[in-house]
Amino acid sequence: MKKFLVVLVLSIFIISSFATVIDTIKKRGEIILGTEATYPPFEYVDEQTKRVVGFDIEIGQAIARKLGVKLVVKDIAFDGLIPALITGKIDFIAAAMTITEERQKMVSFSDPYFTAGQVIVVRKGSGFSPKSYQDLSGHKVGVQQGTTADIDVSKVKGVSIVRYTRFTDAFLDLALGRLDAVVLDFAPAQAYVKFNPKLEISSPVLSQENYGIAVRKQDKELLGVINEVLKELKTKTAYDYLIDKWF
Ligand code: ARG
Repeated sequence: MKKFLVVLVLSIFIISSFATVIDTIKKRGEIILGTEATYPPFEYVDEQTKRVVGFDIEIGQAIARKLGVKLVVKDIAFDGLIPALITGKIDFIAAAMTITEERQKMVSFSDPYFTAGQVIVVRKGSGFSPKSYQDLSGHKVGVQQGTTADIDVSKVKGVSIVRYTRFTDAFLDLALGRLDAVVLDFAPAQAYVKFNPKLEISSPVLSQENYGIAVRKQDKELLGVINEVLKELKTKTAYDYLIDKWF
């Protein structure tokens, strides 16, 4: 009897250690996407429905569909996304997140799904028209905490950097003259400028970055599924549809 119990407990232990995050997700009936939703057209809150929508969310929906589960979206601070993933609060990150070596030490990234680069946004008619990171020296510049823009602008000597959790707050401060510039990726910059005629992009594209979807290092099967979905989206016209719809 005792022997039987030991074997039983051991086999349960062995079987459960083979269970992947995909089994957990399927049992739960939902997959949890983590994002920071002040980054249109990748992820933002729809004014009318109050739901998080965008390019990344549609990719998330395709991943959920592939697994036959519901998609749940959690909107959290950008610099809290990797900690949330590592501690199991979310299953994957789709947040226009650039694949960087530093981040790769903590998480695994999918194949790149979008190429981006940073630009500088200023107030029209302010007389300040920076063309490079160096031009930001001596000025007050807003970035989102923990982003690649934060990393790059922090390297500029003599810059006074203000770190925000939400881009909406950074752009409010820029419009009100509390900041001289905001640095972020081109597509969201364009979206903010479109909605605020007081603002304009002053620089060329200053960096080259690739976005990837992030999962925990051990979740290799999930990463495989995500790469499959990305490949399907790119080959089917769905990807063109997404690009057309959101850009
Ligand atoms: N691409 C930049 C980065 O990875 C900015 C991403 C910000 N994304 C967001 N959803 N707020 O650092």
